[in-house]
Amino acid sequence: MSRPDAASLLSPSPPPFKPHRRGRLLPSILAVLAAAAALFLLAVLRSPPTPSPNLGSLFLSLGSNNTAASHLRALTLHPHVAGTKANSLTAAYVLHAFSSLSIPSHITPYSVLLSYPVHRSLSLSAGPGRAAKSFSLTQDTYPSDPYARAAAEVTPTFFAYSASGSVSAEAVYANYGREEDFAYLSSRGVDVAGRVALARYGRIHCEDIVHNARAAGAAAALVYPDPLEYGGSAGEGSFPDSRWLPPSGVQVGSLFRGVGDPTTPMWASSEGCERVSVEDAMATDDMPGIPALPVSARDAAEIQQVLGGAEAPADWQGRDGSPVYRLGPGPAVLNLTYQGNDTMATIENVFAVIEGAEEPDRYVILGNHRDAWTFGAADPNSGTAAMIELAQRFSMLQKQGWRPRRTIIFCSWDAEEYGLTGSTEWVEENREMLSTRAVAYLNIDVSVVGPVLLPSTTPQLDELLLETIKLVQDPDNSSQTVYDSWVKANASPKIQRLGNGGSDYAAFVQHVGIPSTNLIFGEGPGYPVYHSLYDDFVWVEKFADPGFRRHVAAASIWGIMALRLADEEIIPFDYMSYTTELEAYTKVVEKETEGTTVSCSPLYNSIRALKKAATKVNSERKDIQRELSSKQLSKDSMRIRGLNDRLMQAERAFTNREGIFKQAWYKHLIYGPSEQNDWDTASYPGIADAIATARSSNTSASWKLVQHEVHRVARAVAQASAVLSGSLT
Ligand SMILES: *[C@@H]1O[C@H](CO)[C@@H](O)[C@H](O)[C@H]1NC(C)=O
Ligand SMILES: *[C@@H]1O[C@H](CO)[C@@H](O)[C@H](O)[C@H]1NC(C)=O
Ligand SMILES: *[C@@H]1O[C@H](CO)[C@@H](O)[C@H](O)[C@H]1NC(C)=O
Ligand SMILES: *[C@@H]1O[C@H](CO)[C@@H](O)[C@H](O)[C@H]1NC(C)=O
Ligand SMILES: *[C@@H]1O[C@H](CO)[C@@H](O)[C@H](O)[C@H]1NC(C)=O
Repeated sequence: MSRPDAASLLSPSPPPFKPHRRGRLLPSILAVLAAAAALFLLAVLRSPPTPSPNLGSLFLSLGSNNTAASHLRALTLHPHVAGTKANSLTAAYVLHAFSSLSIPSHITPYSVLLSYPVHRSLSLSAGPGRAAKSFSLTQDTYPSDPYARAAAEVTPTFFAYSASGSVSAEAVYANYGREEDFAYLSSRGVDVAGRVALARYGRIHCEDIVHNARAAGAAAALVYPDPLEYGGSAGEGSFPDSRWLPPSGVQVGSLFRGVGDPTTPMWASSEGCERVSVEDAMATDDMPGIPALPVSARDAAEIQQVLGGAEAPADWQGRDGSPVYRLGPGPAVLNLTYQGNDTMATIENVFAVIEGAEEPDRYVILGNHRDAWTFGAADPNSGTAAMIELAQRFSMLQKQGWRPRRTIIFCSWDAEEYGLTGSTEWVEENREMLSTRAVAYLNIDVSVVGPVLLPSTTPQLDELLLETIKLVQDPDNSSQTVYDSWVKANASPKIQRLGNGGSDYAAFVQHVGIPSTNLIFGEGPGYPVYHSLYDDFVWVEKFADPGFRRHVAAASIWGIMALRLADEEIIPFDYMSYTTELEAYTKVVEKETEGTTVSCSPLYNSIRALKKAATKVNSERKDIQRELSSKQLSKDSMRIRGLNDRLMQAERAFTNREGIFKQAWYKHLIYGPSEQNDWDTASYPGIADAIATARSSNTSASWKLVQHEVHRVARAVAQASAVLSGSLT
């Protein structure tokens, strides 16, 4: 339950870039005790069985919207792209925030390949030899914009790792830039080769759009946010009057399709390590290889006005009332010049560690990235503000004498925007330690852009998530819980999975196999000012979270899950829900391979075994809990440790040393991006890609490869049940 009114009394409100002072927390202790007493009865009546409901309720009562707001304001005064001085200052701010809460903290730096713009220009003419108009490529500020001055420090709009070069060629309109869109152009006789593809955001990531454009032969690409997705309906206006993206808004991004530092593929960027040269790193297929720029809807509309050719189909058009879009090619001619600087830079991950009292070598890890393309108010510092607010509550619990059973680690990642770089390098550097010791990884990237919780987990965490959101009050309606509003907002409420490469959980889940979650309060996929100049404090305060109670609710869910994972004698994982998920995915595979030689029975057999193992483990849990409560068993019994190790390690068994089909870094055979498109959560990525290949070639060898992928997953599931049941054959 978040109580911002009571909590505001407790909350120190530090001035920008000044840390908390410990002394200001002390008067709060009395208030804390009062709140705890008041909440104790309530907690006993309402909460699902947790070992220490009073600790959970005390934690919930300490939430402070003002703390979250003041940290967010301080972190977002200036734009802070990875590798810059400004972002180094945010690292110092976060480090100081943790250490002022008496939580030991440190910075781990890496030297990695980042990318910055040096020169950009774009001009449009209505045909060869016709007068050209140059675009300014800037995003407008508004008259009362408190960030107008700081806007001058924003990195010019660009695509990280874009090739440098100059292209002057006719334009072609390519809709969402998917493979199917380029196939459609080809079917209409529109040749993209040597031309400039103009595509819009909305279905797939910019790196995949540019990749597809290059595969179709384009010499360069432009990507813009169409008002259909980013502008609301015509009468609604845009920021600062409404939440929608202004016409000059540009969505910046990275075109690297891999993960981590491109000069250290598959290994960590530790000091003195082996490195691929920058030239070689820039020449791989994971790099765009052609010049590309993000542009605004306003500039795209001007280009569309001088495009000729056939009228684009209905689902390629803009929102109601916009002019008709045509396919081209030409007569519009674009002259695009881009010069980038792909250069080694220092990034800084910040860590804060609350050491476990009984099992210090077991880690519950909470992470959020800190670097931003611009001010980063929603993405990602709404998450950073929630993380520091949460750390403040843990620090207050520590002053009450609490120490977690297991170690809790806070991580503030750098360079997530470039390719999940900070988290990836750290996970690679600590892979074996994490593989043997990490209990769970709880990620929040953007914490708040709207009212509805959008949770993702690996399935053994489903039950914990649901129990948690039944405890936390809906930040927009005090007479219901987050669970109630989640159920009301969704016809069939569904927890999402972590198969895409969307944020810093990727290395934890997909490279090492660590049970993970990702949480966001949103309103559907994405939000209008994403990666633009307008993702600033004003937008968050006005449109994402007026009153900052959603930030507190996000921190509450994050914190309760962490408390239970760190404190309960038996780790709260339930693998039954994994078996349900696996069965559902297998049904899809069965349907997709109907009429072929592929059989899914190996998978069904191994899922049946997993169900048996999960049932056995759950009854062992009950036995141990009974013995614990009747004091027949001590809290530090090796039996508990043994059961916990099996629960923790079962997820690792879903990984495979060779990794998934054609993408060796991705080791997890259940959750990972499939080759094509990582916008949607993918499951069984290896099987999915093998099916796609077999469909197009339809040879018996290609269908045998699908069967092989089915067997690989079945073997991984069998390994997981062996780990869970803890018995050798
Ligand atoms: C394209 O623009 C660049 C930079 O403004 C200019 O140097 C070049 O001459 C232009 N090319 C053509 C073909 O107009
Ligand atoms: C690229 O960045 C490096 C490191 O910051 C800098 O020394 C160099 O001058 C830059 N090059 C260009 C062309 O801007
Ligand atoms: C708040 O929640 C209560 C209980 O679920 C519900 O009856 C009421 O309609 C909600 N109020 C609003 C404004 O949604
Ligand atoms: C925190 O919540 C209180 C009570 O609802 C409210 O008065 C205050 O304005 C909120 N603080 C912020 C920064 O929005
Ligand atoms: C694929 O090949 C099989 C066997 O050669 C054939 O029966 C089937 O019709 C083919 N399917 C397609 C979609 O071409």
